[in-house]
Amino acid sequence: MESMIVDCDPGVDDAIAIILAHDLAILKGVTTVSGNVPIEATTRNALQVIALLDADIQVCKGAARPLKNPPVHSNHVHGTDGLGGAGLLKNTRSPSHVDAVDFLLETPTRDDWIVAIGPLTNLAQAIERDPTWVSRIKGISIMGGSTGYGNVTSAAEFNIYSDPEAAARVFECGARIRMCGLNLTHQFQVTEVFLRALAQAEGDLAQFAEPMLRFLLGRMEELTGRRSAALHDPCAVLAATHPQLFEFENLSVRIELAGTLTRGMTVCDQRTTRRRDFPNTEVAQSIDVGKAMPLLLNTLCKNERK
Ligand code: BDR
Ligand code: CA
Repeated sequence: MESMIVDCDPGVDDAIAIILAHDLAILKGVTTVSGNVPIEATTRNALQVIALLDADIQVCKGAARPLKNPPVHSNHVHGTDGLGGAGLLKNTRSPSHVDAVDFLLETPTRDDWIVAIGPLTNLAQAIERDPTWVSRIKGISIMGGSTGYGNVTSAAEFNIYSDPEAAARVFECGARIRMCGLNLTHQFQVTEVFLRALAQAEGDLAQFAEPMLRFLLGRMEELTGRRSAALHDPCAVLAATHPQLFEFENLSVRIELAGTLTRGMTVCDQRTTRRRDFPNTEVAQSIDVGKAMPLLLNTLCKNERK
């Protein structure tokens, strides 16, 4: 079984990703970052998911703002609380006294993945503090970017757009990097059928996930006209735990920092000639949805916690 630390900004799909990581991997810790909602809320939401799992897992609070940008949030997708209303449930847990960057630097071994599903601020700070850190982890599985269009701007995806300077540092750091961008995560859509299956399940996880995903589906319907939602962040967990379900292509990925229309774009070199830049990233191009979706449903429908 793979082991991992999840760096996240819950976020509806982050919450689902934490649950999946806890079921399919050894989850060594959760670090939080400002992103979908401010840091106090992402930390509270992560604690709430860990409490729901009844797990003895540290939640370490991280960066309150990106390296250079003012914070950007995504309440229009994830709701005021970040969990489509589910973040307002009672929770009595507190964050660890260890800061996220300290935890990231001190905890992982060469067997551990860092699954990064929010803006990359914490990871960039860890790399800045100790550039040798990247040789002490197994790799970084990122939900972020795209080989094609973005979602905040036509060129940039939310996690990279939020902190492009941090993303540039991470993509240049020399670690093994797997990237699940929008080109991949848009293949992994939940619909009403998935929600009906959750509604029929009796466990706490399904009862937590169903209204949260129903909220997300409603928001996406308003935004896109289609009643389905891409579950971005669970893809980065699966890319580490079940790489056999993906097709990856080794590409050079660099972050645009200066463009007036393209700041935060992941520039993926997909040229087919020898002029193609040297690859630094395993870019996920396709996922076997027929196998991945039942895995997720099975996790959410479990009655017993690990
Ligand atoms: C990413 O942005 C956030 O809103 C989601 O949680 C995901 O990590 C998708 O662009
Ligand atoms: Ca996220």
